[in-house]
Amino acid sequence: MPAVDDARGSATPVLIQGISQTFGETRVLKALSLEIAAGETVALLGPSGCGKTTLLRLVAGLARPTGGRIDIGERRVVDADSGVFVPPEGREIGMVFQDYALWPHMSVAKNVAFPLEMRGLGRSEREARVTEALGLVGLDGMGERAPGTLSGGQQQRVALARAIVARPPVILFDEPLSNLDRELRESLVVDIAALLRRLGMTALYVTHDHGEAFAIADRVAILSRGDLLQVDAPEDLVARPGTVDVATFLKLGVILDGRVEEGDLVLGSKRRLRPPQGFLNGDRSGQLFLPRAALTPMAVADGGLAAVARHSAFRGDGYSVQLELEEGALLDLHSPRRVAQGEQVGLSVAWERARWFPHTSL
Ligand SMILES: Nc1ncnc2c1ncn2[C@@H]1O[C@H](COP(=O)(O)OP(=O)(O)OP(=O)(O)O)[C@@H](O)[C@H]1O
Ligand SMILES: [Mg+2]
Repeated sequence: MPAVDDARGSATPVLIQGISQTFGETRVLKALSLEIAAGETVALLGPSGCGKTTLLRLVAGLARPTGGRIDIGERRVVDADSGVFVPPEGREIGMVFQDYALWPHMSVAKNVAFPLEMRGLGRSEREARVTEALGLVGLDGMGERAPGTLSGGQQQRVALARAIVARPPVILFDEPLSNLDRELRESLVVDIAALLRRLGMTALYVTHDHGEAFAIADRVAILSRGDLLQVDAPEDLVARPGTVDVATFLKLGVILDGRVEEGDLVLGSKRRLRPPQGFLNGDRSGQLFLPRAALTPMAVADGGLAAVARHSAFRGDGYSVQLELEEGALLDLHSPRRVAQGEQVGLSVAWERARWFPHTSL
């Protein structure tokens, strides 16, 4: 039996440089660049229609870009300028799709063996590799089943086994878990992350689910309208979103318009807050980002924010309370105590966690 860690060391970086894709008049990708280190998992996170699948297809060789180049390891696989184009079967990439894409008339083992047959591996080697791959994805002994007799989660495990069986150095995922229910998604994403680490594969994982991206990725790349807004480790993205758009997209807290008057921050509701020296950088107006972690419920008081509770739901370890701030913004916050509907709630601000995004043009 081949050693499980065989693929380590052969992991390969992926370098995407200035990739553009235009369909007719529409620029779907706008000279986008992204480097994925050998053995790294990058999650590509963004709303529907932002160009995630388009980028994945370009890396896989299922489409040709309008501009830019992609290297996989030392090899240039596409270059719009010089016309270099390596077809998908020459790129050594595993792929897992949302809809599993299994062949229903073939057994699980035959499905998984397919990439090995394409490479002309002998039968006994194939069987050993298929058995190993099924073991790695937790499907020991399921080889003779027909895909249609398996649950959705098991079918996606078969697709995963097929994607890794030939040990490609790079694996691409396109929303692989979005057809599964929440509990299954949460457990499978952990299994996939562990498997990628164990095999040392380089992975690009497309999703529109923040939780999934944070759970699997070494770094998360946020794609919006064909452009990357920020690429960072999950912890850094949450602690330091680079723009208001990133903070908004990640639903990290509230964003309030404000202007600066004599060192005070005056919000739309006319409420005045006094941030510490230096927080406002002397700019006259901008947006205040307050992550949930910066807000603590308290009695309504000067120098804090004021809100009204809209709903409160028991969550086992406390209450999830929806607050409507004076400024109109809505915010879900955890509270250890029950808060009655309509109750006035004050919020104190931990300024070291807050951020000020000035309107620099003013
Ligand atoms: N072959 C094509 N011809 C024309 N337009 C296309 C083509 N492929 C994609 N598009 C358009 O490009 C945009 C991005 O599509 P893409 O499938 O990459 O989005 P996505 O981020 O994967 O979205 P989702 O989360 O819904 O899967 C969409 O507006 C889509 O309609
Ligand atoms: Mg898509």
